[in-house]
Amino acid sequence: MKLVIVKDYAELSRKAAEMLVSEVKANPKTVLGLATGGTPVGMYRELIKLSQAESIDFSQASSFNLDEYVGLSSTHPQSYRSYMEENLFNHINIPAEKTHVPVGNTTDPLAECARYEEAIRLAGGIDIQVLGIGNNGHIGFNEPGSPTDSVTRVVQLTDSTIEANARYFDSVDQVPTQAVSMGIKTILGAKKVVLLASGEAKAEAVRLMLEEEPTADVPASLLQLHPDVTVIVDQEAASKLT
Ligand code: F6R
Repeated sequence: MKLVIVKDYAELSRKAAEMLVSEVKANPKTVLGLATGGTPVGMYRELIKLSQAESIDFSQASSFNLDEYVGLSSTHPQSYRSYMEENLFNHINIPAEKTHVPVGNTTDPLAECARYEEAIRLAGGIDIQVLGIGNNGHIGFNEPGSPTDSVTRVVQLTDSTIEANARYFDSVDQVPTQAVSMGIKTILGAKKVVLLASGEAKAEAVRLMLEEEPTADVPASLLQLHPDVTVIVDQEAASKLT
């Protein structure tokens, strides 16, 4: 894995946005794999700025998000579909029908998982997948124990993830307990991966991901099995690396 240590969150956000822009410039039909959460917000802001400054054309690009909460409608303010519209889709010229986020409030989540996995395949696979990392080493919502051969499926969120995400809801009991998430195999199927980590709270997960043997106990460490991963971390997130 290629490790890039930057000074701070601003630099991390810029670097990640530049990677996405150069990907779309080289291939206007890029299939983007996108993440939500706090970490990529700055990257999306920079991506919008850069795209406007350089008139980057996303009209032929498409995107697949990693995950969505089960039980939230796409218009719910805390749904990942709403997050993506607010933070990116409403500000670039990617066609709405080419943006894919799992549907969280379906009556048949299993069918939705199969449909989503197939849609990625039909799109030719993901060219560049953006990831954050959970304090417990999760990627997407692949919590510790997620098998290497897992594909898009319904997952149970751990207490640590529910607590970490409670900041976006009025109270912890409003946080959904399940999500539809791409699996480890789905993520490892992307041609390129870029993982972002910022802040001291991520330092131990970053160390385990990079310095220990790959294990399902730390899902991000399974990225060691992928040939083209760039990890961009700020100094705080790198503080436990030897
Ligand atoms: C988001 C996702 C999660 C987050 C992770 C880190 O789509 O799949 O794996 O990337 O929970 O979240 P933040 O960036 O909020 O610390």
